[in-house]
This record gives sequence, C-alpha cells and structure tokens, in this order.
Amino acid sequence: MDNLVIVLILAATTTAISILSIVFLYRNNSNLILRSKHRRRPLPLGTLGWPFLGETIEFVSCAYSDCPESFMDKRRHLYGKVFKSHIFGSPTIVSTDAEVSKFVLQSDAKAFVPSYPKSLTELMGKSSILLINGALQRRVHGLIGAFFKSPHLKAQITTDMQKYVQQSMANWRDDRPIYIQDETKNIAFQVLVKALISLDPGADMEFLKKQFQEFIAGLMSLPINIPGSRLYRSLQAKKKMIQLVQKIIQARKKEISSISNEVARDVVDVLLSDTSGQLTDDLIADNMIDMMIPGEDSVPVLMTLAIKYLSDSPTALQQLTEENMKLKTLKDQLGEPLCWSDYLSLPFTQNVITETLRMGNIIIGVMRKAMKDVEIKGYLIPKGWCVFTYFRSVHLDENNYDWPYAFNPWRWQDKDMSSSNFTPFGGGQRLCPGLDLARLEASIFLHHFVTQFRWVAEEDTIVNFPTVRMKRRMPIRVKRKGDH
Ligand code: HEM
Repeated sequence: MDNLVIVLILAATTTAISILSIVFLYRNNSNLILRSKHRRRPLPLGTLGWPFLGETIEFVSCAYSDCPESFMDKRRHLYGKVFKSHIFGSPTIVSTDAEVSKFVLQSDAKAFVPSYPKSLTELMGKSSILLINGALQRRVHGLIGAFFKSPHLKAQITTDMQKYVQQSMANWRDDRPIYIQDETKNIAFQVLVKALISLDPGADMEFLKKQFQEFIAGLMSLPINIPGSRLYRSLQAKKKMIQLVQKIIQARKKEISSISNEVARDVVDVLLSDTSGQLTDDLIADNMIDMMIPGEDSVPVLMTLAIKYLSDSPTALQQLTEENMKLKTLKDQLGEPLCWSDYLSLPFTQNVITETLRMGNIIIGVMRKAMKDVEIKGYLIPKGWCVFTYFRSVHLDENNYDWPYAFNPWRWQDKDMSSSNFTPFGGGQRLCPGLDLARLEASIFLHHFVTQFRWVAEEDTIVNFPTVRMKRRMPIRVKRKGDH
C-alpha cells in the first residue's frame, strides 16, 4: 500500500514537473527564438500565459468585471506601458503608450494591417473597407470621409435626424419606462441607412433592420460555416441584405448615367461616381453592409452613455440644459429651424460629448498585425505578431487626466482635443470617417432631449465587453417640460 502511495506521488510529481516545464518552455521559447533571430533586440516584458489559451481568459474575465482596467493595470505596473501577452489566439504586443499607439496607427500596410477575429473577417468579405489596404483603402476612405464631412450631407442628416428624434419622442409617456439604448439604436440605424443608401423608414428598412441583427449576431461566433451554424445564418442574412442593396445600385445606375455632375445624396452615389474602375458593384454592395458594423452600434452607445453620465451629474446637466434652452429660445424668436452648425456651435454640449467619448471608451482599442519586424521606442514588434493599441488605459490615465474616473466636461474648456492622449476615433490612415456624423447625431439628440424632458434614471450599470452597453438598456422615467 505504502509503495503504491509512493509510486503515485512520484508519478504525480513527474507529471507536474513535465507540465510546468512545457509551460515554462512555451512562455520563454518565443523569447529565445526571437533573441537569436533578432540579435538581442528586446521584446517588451510580459508573459504569454498558458499554451493555446494565452492570457485570454484573464483578459476576458477582467473585461466583464466592474474593473476592466485591472488586466492592463496589473501588467503596466509589472512590465511598463508596452508589454507582451497572448490574447485571442495570437502573441500580442499590448500598447497603452499613446506615442507607440500613434506610431502604429500612422503606419501603412507595409508595417501593419488590421487584424480581426476569424468570424468577423468571414462575415465582412475580402473587399470590406475594414480589411482592404493600400491605395484601394485610401481611395474608399477618402471618398467616404469627404462625403461625411460635406455640409450638404450634414444638412440632410440634420433634417432626417430631427424628424426621427421627434417621431420617437412623440411616443414617450410618463407612465412607462423609456429604454434610451433601444430608442437611440432605432434612430441612429435609420440615419445611417439613409446616409448610406437613401432608404426611408418602411418595409425595406424593417427588413434590413431584422437581417442586420441576424448578421451581427455572428460577429463573435465560432468560425464554423456549416448549415445551421451561427456564422452560416449570419452569412445568409448578409446575402439577403446584399440583394436589396444591389437592387438599389442597379436602379441608381439606370436613373442617371453619370452621377459625377450631380450632388451625391448618399454613399452609394459617391462610390458609383468614382471613375477609377476599381469599385465594382459587388465591392460597393458589400461595403454598404460592412460600413454598418462600425456605424450601427457606436453612435447609440455614445448617446446612451451621455444620458447615463448626465443623470449622475446634475451640475453638468443643468449647464447643458441652459445652453441648449438659450439656443432654442433664440431660434424660436427668429422663427428659424436649427441647422447643423447651430448644433455644433454649443461649446459645453461638445465638451459633454468629448468627455463621454473619453470615459465611455466605446471602442476600447484596435488590433493590427505586423507585416515585418518593427521597432518602436526601443521595443520590438515581431513580424506576424498582433499589436493591440489599447485606448482605454490612455483615456483613464491619471497622468493624462486629473481624476480620470470623474465625469468632468469642464476639463475640455482649455484642453487640446487633438493630442494623442485622446483617440476615441482611432487615428492615422484609418481615422474614423464617421466622426463628424457621430458628434452631430449626439448633439441633435441631446438638444431635443434636454429641452423637452426632465427624467429620472432607473438603476443600471455599464457593461464593457464584448461591446460597451447598458446592462438594462438604460431605462428612464420622463416628464415632458411644461407638464405638471
Ligand atoms: C461614437 C461613434 C464612433 C466611434 C467611437 C468610432 C470609432 C472608430 C474607430 C476607433 C475606428 C478605427 C478603426 C481602426 O483603426 O481599425 C473607426 C473606423 C471606422 N469607422 Fe467609426 N466610430 C464611430 C462612428 C462611426 C460612424 C457613424 C460611421 C459611419 C458609417 C463609422 C464608420 C467607420 C468606418 C467605415 C471605419 C473604417 C475606416 C477605415 O478602416 O478606413 N464610424 N471608427
């Protein structure tokens, strides 16, 4: 019996030593290989975690927790602002250093290309703006960016948005909760689809909304494309949406043989008017759907978080309301409707939006893959590794912002927004082309909301992973101003 115990203990010890050695070798092997290959150029400090899993489980469990920074903070403390890790199946250099992240974002496709989970790339298709690189990406990005900046589109968005906001708010009653996240989602989707393909609310819009929900449900799924799987159903939904967009493209082509001399009404017009010959109908149709991915969720979350932070900050709410009331009274007296530049002219309202973007971190960071060995600030990013430029840590760093967890729109009164410490819309080659649109939509929503309603927010909390959202969809009880 005693012998059996000794044998078992020995066997268990040997197994444990073997496992630990494998883990140890795995964790350090990549360092050794890189050291010999790269002649002692240093990899950032850090650990690669467990075989295959890396540090993904710890990253995800922290991201779900009340303190999503804990994963990064612990490692920043141990290894510095740039460290190595292994998350989502790839060895990764994490950058919480604004300068390093800026360098990565400004690099071209010879150094870094976008990196997304496999399920996402399967859904997006090869010609998606989120995936293409080089001259074609610059072309599509430039066309869309210029269109979204144009006063013509801003005027159209303003008219549409005012209409959708009023339609939505007309149904709000004080005897039942209003779910801000749902209301803003509905409004922003209509605005986005109008800007992309000029579709008005109606049967086609409802069809698109339904298919789009089915489509994005697969963004974080297992990359298994067999009938019945989540990815398969999402791809089927995308096919149906593409058919609808193709119909619009074909009708548009018949309608006007040359759109170039006309004022583009939507992104389809803009891309059809391109004469480079690179933008096929398939590419345009695909991109109309793919562009809904970054546009669809982020703007409603921005509006929802602004309402959340304002609900918790009565002083900020009061100043915001006063500023918007003043503009409304002035415009009423002049008998003029508000135009897009009126909405964007209110400094405190803009500061509220900026502060919401800083604290909310709607996009926590972006992933790139190194196409060659790159050295930044003395750190080596090896070819084939991912880089995670993590904005959240920069936005919540007390060295960059005093009391970083306090909602303080006044901090922006004399602060430079163009610094690399503030990158909610990314930067460089892929700076979000929708940033003006997002700010304008949020300004219009806030104006109509605070000038028409008082509200009390019900208990709710912010969830940060896999996307930022409110746990209970931000229920509030409203009272129309003027009602007693
Ligand atoms: C609060 C709202 C928004 C936030 C925080 C946001 C954030 C971002 C960020 C961080 C990126 C950079 C991604 C990267 O570097 O890989 C990006 C790219 C992009 N965004 Fe936005 N976005 C917002 C709204 C919108 C809207 C309304 C649209 C409209 C369609 C849009 C369209 C895009 C597109 C097409 C790209 C890819 C650009 C490229 O790769 O060339 N975004 N966005």
